[in-house]
Amino acid sequence: MIFISDQLFLYFMQLRHYLQFSDFSREEYAYLFERARWIKREFKAYRRYWPLTDRTLAMIFDKSSTRTRLSFEAGMSQLGGAAIYLSTRDTQLGRGEPVEDAARVISRMVDIIMVRTHKHDTIQRFAENSRVPVINGLTDEYHPCQILGDIFTYTEIKGNIAGKTVAWIGDANNMCSTWLQAAEIFDFTMHVSTPPGYDIDPGLIGLNGSNHFKKFTNPMDAVNGADLVTTDVWTSMGFEDETEQRKNDFAAFCVDSEMMSAAKSDAVFMHCLPAHRGEEVSADVIDGPQSVVWDEAENRLHTQKALIEYLLLGKLTIQG
Ligand code: CP
Ligand code: NVA
Repeated sequence: MIFISDQLFLYFMQLRHYLQFSDFSREEYAYLFERARWIKREFKAYRRYWPLTDRTLAMIFDKSSTRTRLSFEAGMSQLGGAAIYLSTRDTQLGRGEPVEDAARVISRMVDIIMVRTHKHDTIQRFAENSRVPVINGLTDEYHPCQILGDIFTYTEIKGNIAGKTVAWIGDANNMCSTWLQAAEIFDFTMHVSTPPGYDIDPGLIGLNGSNHFKKFTNPMDAVNGADLVTTDVWTSMGFEDETEQRKNDFAAFCVDSEMMSAAKSDAVFMHCLPAHRGEEVSADVIDGPQSVVWDEAENRLHTQKALIEYLLLGKLTIQG
């Protein structure tokens, strides 16, 4: 009888995870975008593409979600596979089962796993004990799948993002950290403006010191001449106790039409959603002509299908 230890199994599988944006190279993103374009075109033409028949995705949610759950679940089904939703509220994870044990068990039953949780350390421990690829569906620190969709969207609408300026206004949260990682890989500049006390932590982001970001005290200065203006909720999931304090601290950090008018006239506005009109963004901006938030949301589906395909099947010959 042949016995393969977990270590040997991982060695032979050349296992890849997607936990941070910096886990993939520029070349891998170019490949993913090409696949996403093809997958999107086939989907829009109602042509069946089922490379993942009999494959299963497990999705573990420790926090709420609309877009992430739907795009992964629908995406897996559209690729011919199946997705299973697991909430920590009603699994043994919520009753204290060690994350390492859960990873060992779940990864013996499915082909790929997506995890949305609080601390990044949790998903790292999960991945270290998984026999199958693990995808970060958002942690307190990072949201790589969202920026994958966002940069695909920018490229689709405006072309190459290299050399452009992206203004981040608001909280130095998981979205901001991930944008900063992307700036180094795609060679664009981030202008970051956060209120006092909510500064970015370059150590957390793991930047290589390549000078792809500048900090601004005044958000108007940060958006000046920007090609893309983006923001996110003032209070991320898990920080709800700080909501009232943050409403005060972030009051001057609403992306409104006056702020957008300081950006380039053809600048686009992005928001990962869900949005709070009248807080981090005004209604006339998010519902206005420069907003691309609905394309951004839809592209989560197409880019994540390309990501799952890549993690499970590797590089395929580009078709059509
Ligand atoms: N943008 C995003 O990840 O949305 P959900 O929280 O709805 O998944
Ligand atoms: N920064 C937000 C993103 C939600 C998709 C949060 O973590 O709640």
